[in-house]
Amino acid sequence: MAVSMIPLFLLPILLAGFRPSLAQTCLSDTFSSNRLFSSCNTLQYLGAAVHWNYHPDNATIDVAYRAPISSNGWVAWALNPTGQGMMGAQALFAFSGSDGVVRVYPTAISTLTPDVKDGNLSFKVYSKSGELSNGVMTIFATLELPGNRTTVNQVWQAGPLSNGSPSQHSTTGDNIKSSGSIDLLSGSVSGGGSNSRQRRKNTHGVLNAVSWGCLDAYWSHHSKIHEGFADPALVLSPCCLSTLSIYCRSCWMGHWS
Ligand code: HEM
Ligand SMILES: *[C@@H]1O[C@H](CO)[C@@H](O)[C@H](O)[C@H]1NC(C)=O
Ligand SMILES: *[C@@H]1O[C@H](CO)[C@@H](O)[C@H](O)[C@H]1NC(C)=O
Ligand SMILES: *[C@@H]1O[C@H](CO)[C@@H](O)[C@H](O)[C@H]1NC(C)=O
Repeated sequence: MAVSMIPLFLLPILLAGFRPSLAQTCLSDTFSSNRLFSSCNTLQYLGAAVHWNYHPDNATIDVAYRAPISSNGWVAWALNPTGQGMMGAQALFAFSGSDGVVRVYPTAISTLTPDVKDGNLSFKVYSKSGELSNGVMTIFATLELPGNRTTVNQVWQAGPLSNGSPSQHSTTGDNIKSSGSIDLLSGSVSGGGSNSRQRRKNTHGVLNAVSWGCLDAYWSHHSKIHEGFADPALVLSPCCLSTLSIYCRSCWMGHWS
């Protein structure tokens, strides 16, 4: 009731204020070239998130891994088809070269001192690219899903460059916790993940923005409550208002990005 009396022209102000509180889930991530991912997971360590589309027909996944990167650093995301943690990880390293061009180097890790170069993994990498923006790196890749298994072990990491090449990351704290399994179908994770989401494929523009609006608002509200930061607007909002607001927000984010 009260909410329906908020004049529409105030929505922009309200929304601008709420964007930051939503930005902490992977759901608010947007990508260049209108890339869309049907699932995402906000990882618990290293400020990272992973987004993906699974294609059962050809057992491939399109992945976007996004994480903060230090100015002279690297980030990496890996599937580990044969074990857990670093050993056996089939990693995609990303870092900025001295020429400012982003490199994405697939490197299979079989020792604690891997030779990081543009190599081959134990499964096919159909495409790879990286984008660095405001200290945040996004790795895009299309990968063959080894054995078409939909529960896989993932590992992620960040470290420094030495003479332009990735060198050893910290071996304490969050840097040794950053691994776990992920169910690509349900989106659920164990170890180092949270905010798991499975979204429906976004194929119908506005209608989807509407349904997404509901889900996004619901989940944000839900997770904020658990973190003790209940967002009053989302608590008050009937779904339609959230829907409208998220839709508007998406429009603007589209304009801004
Ligand atoms: C230049 C490359 C790298 C070097 C030199 C390096 C070195 C190391 C060393 C020395 C340890 C400690 C091992 C121990 O104390 O038992 C370690 C642990 C670890 N590394 Fe790396 N690492 C590299 C790249 C990576 C990458 C790319 C990932 C993930 C994508 C990763 C993930 C981990 C994890 C999760 C651990 C904790 C132990 C485990 O779960 O295996 N590392 N690394
Ligand atoms: C896998 O299938 C999807 C559609 O299901 C398609 O868009 C994609 O291009 C295919 N990928 C490869 C590497 O063949
Ligand atoms: C991958 O597994 C799914 C079921 O989980 C199946 O429907 C699909 O046909 C499989 N794809 C390939 C390429 O084997
Ligand atoms: C990667 O594999 C291809 C063949 O699949 C081969 O031509 C190429 O030399 C390999 N690259 C490295 C760095 O091993």
